[in-house]
Amino acid sequence: MSRVIQVTDVILRDAHQSLLATRMAMEDMIPACEDLDNAGYWSLECWGGATFDSCIRFLNEDPWERLRTFKKLMPKTPLQMLLRGQNLLGYRHYEDGVVQRFVDKAAENGMDVFRVFDALNDLRNLETAIAAVKKTGKHAQGTISYTVSPVHTVAAFADMAKSLKDMGADSICIKDMAALLKPQAAYDLVKGIKRTCGEDTLVHVHVHATTGVTMVSLMKAIEAGCDIVDTAISSLSLGSGHNPTEALVEMLEGTGFSTRLDKERLLKAKRHFATVRPNYKEYLSEFSGVDTEIFESQIPGGMISNLESQMKSQNSLHRLPDVLAEVPRVRADAGYPPLVTPSSQIVGTQAVFNVLMGRYKTMTAEFVDLMLGYYGSTLGEKNADVLAQALAQGKKPAITGRPADLLAPEWDALRAQAAALEGFNGSDEDVLTFAMFPQVAPKFFKTRAEGPKHVGKAAAPVAAPAPAPAPAPAPAADAPADPARSCLSPLPGMVVRVNVSAGQTVEADAPLLVLESMKMETNISAPFAGTVKSVRVMPGDAVAENQVLVEFA
Ligand code: CO
Repeated sequence: MSRVIQVTDVILRDAHQSLLATRMAMEDMIPACEDLDNAGYWSLECWGGATFDSCIRFLNEDPWERLRTFKKLMPKTPLQMLLRGQNLLGYRHYEDGVVQRFVDKAAENGMDVFRVFDALNDLRNLETAIAAVKKTGKHAQGTISYTVSPVHTVAAFADMAKSLKDMGADSICIKDMAALLKPQAAYDLVKGIKRTCGEDTLVHVHVHATTGVTMVSLMKAIEAGCDIVDTAISSLSLGSGHNPTEALVEMLEGTGFSTRLDKERLLKAKRHFATVRPNYKEYLSEFSGVDTEIFESQIPGGMISNLESQMKSQNSLHRLPDVLAEVPRVRADAGYPPLVTPSSQIVGTQAVFNVLMGRYKTMTAEFVDLMLGYYGSTLGEKNADVLAQALAQGKKPAITGRPADLLAPEWDALRAQAAALEGFNGSDEDVLTFAMFPQVAPKFFKTRAEGPKHVGKAAAPVAAPAPAPAPAPAPAADAPADPARSCLSPLPGMVVRVNVSAGQTVEADAPLLVLESMKMETNISAPFAGTVKSVRVMPGDAVAENQVLVEFA
């Protein structure tokens, strides 16, 4: 008798998120559903932040409708989602009432397994979501974001697992988004968790294939007692994606372990996704091989390509190696956060700023928040000097409590805002869609009735995009400003907010305006005290480096 290893297939979520920029349309998934549902999986991962975002941003598809369709087509197999703890599917902390509402609605629409994680592994950010899942009677999976650092020991991870179990988690997931989990480490970690939490604790391992070693890591995890593993149907596997499901089945032959998977069904699903894959050629990740440099740099592949495009947009691609060397340093200064959304973007962009503008001379608002505890706590200590600079630049106190405790109930306000939008259907689901993606939801509600838009090759050609509106002229730009009496833009970006107006007297360091650059907000402060003569930009303006923003009298 062999021990049965359960399998979750990530083909409907993480596989196409990792390989096809999350673009797979529902109509390309529907034909595979019957085979997937009958293949014998423990669960099918099909929903998460990026798939939800992509649905409303690119595919004109209602993500709630997608969930209901999956449930109808796959009634036998539990559906699984990835939930960013107190961030839900968005990029900020939500108040507890919104978290509970989201979990209720997801459960009601068909979700069965909630994999709940926090980028910093601050377990206080998981509490509300796990409790909400437990209340619905669904499966709450407590998740550890795997990372490697001097403070991330087996004992530290096992303690986290124990806390998650005490919180009510039905299983523990080790989530290794960067493929850093080496085989022996996987063995030791699973053993450590089982020893600390009890042998009967369900342990689920999620790894990517990027570094080439993780199929062996899955084997070692299984030998150590791991109960469930994540894989993807082979025609959408490997590269920065996952290990192939069919290869796992074959690998276990003769080992004393086996899966319950039906090879005929897997083959049919594989053939289906092989025919669909070319439709998304233009989104297909260029990286398809193996990258072991990640073990040194600790920078996941997706993050390197982001940094590359950021440096390109700053005309500084030649300094990319400096940025890659800066990332581990910034990460250490910030207390060794795992590099996963959103901490990967925050740490990465700060590394870019450090290289381009001098180390910590300008901090993004998000990096200040990370340093001051507004995302939660990190396992490692923060660099005291950098913390002092964050306090000075942030002009607000550091916090040690649970970030969401600072938030007041917000449901009624969110509903009122959503209700004012054209195309809002009145449901709580729509309010949640708006709450998660307030910038994208308004356009989606308006165009929803037109139905899904297939972005793959087989789709009808889309109309040429409307020409971009001409930039609004900057007010009072009649006379050239004196740069010595002006506040200049330290970097190219877009003006988000202007806090001052002509005639106003400001102190040195007073916040003049907020600039968005590389998806991060930066406060621009007055270089000296004085009276504002003219404000040369408006919200929405694109500005170049060294462009005059505010002129002083
Ligand atoms: Co993943």
